[in-house]
Amino acid sequence: MSAPARKSTLPLLDTLDLGGKRVFVRVDFNVPMHEGRVVDDSRIRAALPTLEHCLNQGAKLIIASHLGRPKGIDPNLSLAPAGEVLAGLLRREIILADEPIGDGVTKLVRDLREGQILMLENVRFQEGEEKNDETLSRQFAALADVWVNDAFGAAHRAHASTSGMGQHVKVKAAGFLVAAEVEALTRLLAAQKVGYVTVLGGAKVSDKIAVIEKMLGKVESLLIGGAMAYTFLAAMGKSTGSSRIETAHVETARSLIATALKRGVDLVLPVDHGCAAKFDAASPRVNVDSPDMPTELLGLDIGPRTLALFERKIATAKTVFWNGPMGVFEWSAYATGTFGVARAIAGSNAFSVVGGGDSVRAVNEAGVASSISHLSTGGGASLEFVEGREMPGLYALGWRR
Ligand code: 3PG
Repeated sequence: MSAPARKSTLPLLDTLDLGGKRVFVRVDFNVPMHEGRVVDDSRIRAALPTLEHCLNQGAKLIIASHLGRPKGIDPNLSLAPAGEVLAGLLRREIILADEPIGDGVTKLVRDLREGQILMLENVRFQEGEEKNDETLSRQFAALADVWVNDAFGAAHRAHASTSGMGQHVKVKAAGFLVAAEVEALTRLLAAQKVGYVTVLGGAKVSDKIAVIEKMLGKVESLLIGGAMAYTFLAAMGKSTGSSRIETAHVETARSLIATALKRGVDLVLPVDHGCAAKFDAASPRVNVDSPDMPTELLGLDIGPRTLALFERKIATAKTVFWNGPMGVFEWSAYATGTFGVARAIAGSNAFSVVGGGDSVRAVNEAGVASSISHLSTGGGASLEFVEGREMPGLYALGWRR
């Protein structure tokens, strides 16, 4: 059985009286966009409980977020489309500032009435945001009576609106999303080794080294799929055909395999593959029933025997953490492994947490989201949380590990 979740040290939003207060809510509306439109509004929906609570309490609501990684002002990364989606979901009008900070914003905040919503422009248009600049932090703080951080996806960033401003606002709280994420991920950290299965995938070993190291001290089984598995197979002397491997990390993979062996962790790598002759959606799938691939093929998915193996491990798990797809699931011929893992996790009785944009998307596309215990809105943030790293956005709220 999993150990009970540790009591959160986060100051909670529902203990505050927000009526008539200027409540500055930092959200993570860093949403996927295509041709000026929001293509996945999950992160916007995830912030609704907090925003609705503030409005119901009669707050003067100020919403701030980043979008993308702009270098200066970039109209393509305006928060206006996200604001429109939010206005639709809340069925309320939103005043959109044309800058993240400045005299115009100060005036808009001064004129804000209870129940009204002001959305600032992309905070990363301001140079000081990512530098966690003290002046900018104080400027944001000057807009607020209360600072609410609900941007779990950016909680691993020490930026002015996610962290710095917290020092300059007396009253602060975690939003409901941040509180739920911290609770679920803390439960994961406290889970017992017996029955703990982690599934990792995605393209790069280099992105996952820290989490693999951490997991090797926690889990009973570590299942690795996706392109990163090929680097591990190469480290074991298997033939990976024309698959992309990270030659610079073959040695790291070898030492991770040795650590798993020493610690008695059941490290499971693909025993067969869904391959193609070319990296192309139209390239027909060829199942290779061996861990070794022929030179002319490259791996784009785990094979059916690997999926069955992963399914068996997941079926008896008590705790499951999944981050990273098993292959190029955007192409239907290579989606079997990823959707199969999503369904297996959903069908198990385990406490399950899925993090990372691609895995969460796969769970949604497989139609099994409601059967997952917790879908994290944080990709990098959820990984850094389970790696045990410092989380500046949570530290700024007074949270400690
Ligand atoms: C994310 O999408 O992971 C967060 O919004 C953080 O974005 P960043 O990696 O650009 O800081």
